[in-house]
Amino acid sequence: MASSSDPCSFSSFTKCVTKHLNVTYHVDFDSHVLRGKVALTVEVLEDRLSSLTLDTKDLKISKVTANGQEAQFAMGAKHSFMGTPLEITLPFDLSRGQQVIVEVSYQTSPNASALQWLTPEQTAGKKHPYLFSQCQATHCRSMVPCQDSPSVKHTYYAQVSVPKELVAVMSAVRDGHKADPQDSSRIIYRFRQPVPMPSYLIAIVAGALESREIGPRSRVWSEKEFVDSAAFEFSETETMLKTAEDLAGPYVWGQYDILVLPPSFPYGGMENPCLTFATPTLLAGDRSLSNVIAHEISHSWTGNLVTNKTWEHFWLNEGHTVYLERMIGRCMESEQFRQFKAMGGWKELQDSINTFGADNALTNLVPNLHEVNPDDAFSSVPYEKGFALLYHLEQLMGGPEVFMGFVKSYIQLFAYSSVTTEEWKNYLFTYFRDKVDILEKVDWNAWMNTPGMPPVKPQYDTTLADACIALCQRWVKAKDGDLGGFKEADVKILSSHQLIEFLSLLLQEEALPLGHVRKMQQVYKFNDCTNAEIRFRWLRLCVKSRSEEAVPLALKMATDQGRMKFTRPLFREVYNFDKYREETVRTFLAHRATMHPVTADLVAKDLKVDSNQSTSL
Ligand code: BES
Ligand code: ZN
Repeated sequence: MASSSDPCSFSSFTKCVTKHLNVTYHVDFDSHVLRGKVALTVEVLEDRLSSLTLDTKDLKISKVTANGQEAQFAMGAKHSFMGTPLEITLPFDLSRGQQVIVEVSYQTSPNASALQWLTPEQTAGKKHPYLFSQCQATHCRSMVPCQDSPSVKHTYYAQVSVPKELVAVMSAVRDGHKADPQDSSRIIYRFRQPVPMPSYLIAIVAGALESREIGPRSRVWSEKEFVDSAAFEFSETETMLKTAEDLAGPYVWGQYDILVLPPSFPYGGMENPCLTFATPTLLAGDRSLSNVIAHEISHSWTGNLVTNKTWEHFWLNEGHTVYLERMIGRCMESEQFRQFKAMGGWKELQDSINTFGADNALTNLVPNLHEVNPDDAFSSVPYEKGFALLYHLEQLMGGPEVFMGFVKSYIQLFAYSSVTTEEWKNYLFTYFRDKVDILEKVDWNAWMNTPGMPPVKPQYDTTLADACIALCQRWVKAKDGDLGGFKEADVKILSSHQLIEFLSLLLQEEALPLGHVRKMQQVYKFNDCTNAEIRFRWLRLCVKSRSEEAVPLALKMATDQGRMKFTRPLFREVYNFDKYREETVRTFLAHRATMHPVTADLVAKDLKVDSNQSTSL
């Protein structure tokens, strides 16, 4: 049931809401901490307000003031993953409609879950350290004391002091830089975000960054080693932005830049406003993984403008964003391409539901997250069950053009606010008031509040998938004596999208005999493939078939990059190869200290390693 609180936050947004943050940071690479202060402009929603609670996680708070007067504060009990509530007693009472500026001086922990501090050796250039953040879902509180709930939206301003060899960027418009008046070896970078946004979209990076223009409102940023290949890979950005604007309305964030992070970045992409974060595993050399950019661009409307009210409604962010991403694919490529990608998505959904178990309540479209860590609940379900529901509704309501009319109108109506599933559904019924009889026949409870696969399986056009299905079946049915019939030419006619689909289909089948995967390597040479989506599926397939020669390659890919979509299943697959279980755990423990904190935690859980175990089995 929708409630007025957020199960993932200690801060109540019914008493008061943050309108603006003014952040000042000193980035300290020696001690791995951010030192600084944040001034929160808070609007009061009820009379006689005398206290407020902020979310924090592993922060060291030194001082709190309210309108410049010192305020008393106390730290509550530390929760295992939600952090510690910061209870602030105001030196005066406030009434409804008033604003107060609460200023908190603090420093972060070297283990802040939002931050990864990289040594020079962990960067491409090897000369300078690097810092990046990842706040979604509930990690912002480990770098800013705030109302860390997506129901609260505010603007922000920031000033960040870094060593002068480095550049700082944030999820905002750049607002110039100047020498640090307190330290001539440092520069202060300034940023402004004039569009109200939730705390999880605050993002910061400091490193030896360079950039290159790729469009009228876009640059790519990365260490200099990647700038050129990133500029090539993401050259379709402006076309995608224009396509998205045609579909969803004007782009309100001004700039749209892309930052390519070091390989340990845990996600494919992150929709930080004005500056999408991207994994370097997207640099395939042929623009074939650019759908991730279409996806992050789409979040500029669904997610960043219209935001899920709590993480229980995460599917509103991701389901609509996948829907828009595939609409961009439809406009730039074809309807057949959209159908092909949708079919791939359905398989991802089946995979997730198999991993979690078909009766696991976390596979509900709208899960209950009381005492659940959103990082543990993360899966393809909100993406692909969400997409499947929207596609099903599209078919019932009269096709893509008709349904996009609803999506655009939903975006317009709820722009700059945060919504629940109930509000979304009410508006669906209002928009399609002439077709309510059809909407009432939808099994809403099965779609939203029931675990497992959706109640309706969509029918997708198989034109682009047919070649993948046929080749997959040839391999599945082949006897040892038939293997000579496979030729390099089988895959030469397939696009990299189709190769991904071919391998995904094989992964859904019983493991192939070892001789089959050996033959496949001989004729298709997948071991040489550097496209991360292809390589990932190929190595899983080999390990599933108990290929010992694939084990070191799989562990290498699991540790050379840290995108969780690849790293977690690769570790799990080798772990399930009994003979290599110990080696898997040993490899993980050897890399743990240099891994991203969230990835390290989740892989530890996957491999049933103690949270503080440091030696081998
Ligand atoms: N916002 C997500 C990434 C995310 C989700 C980070 C939840 C932390 C918590 C981002 O937009 C995303 O979905 N990325 C996908 C892209 C894909 C669906 C095209 C990814 O990382 O692979
Ligand atoms: Zn997304």
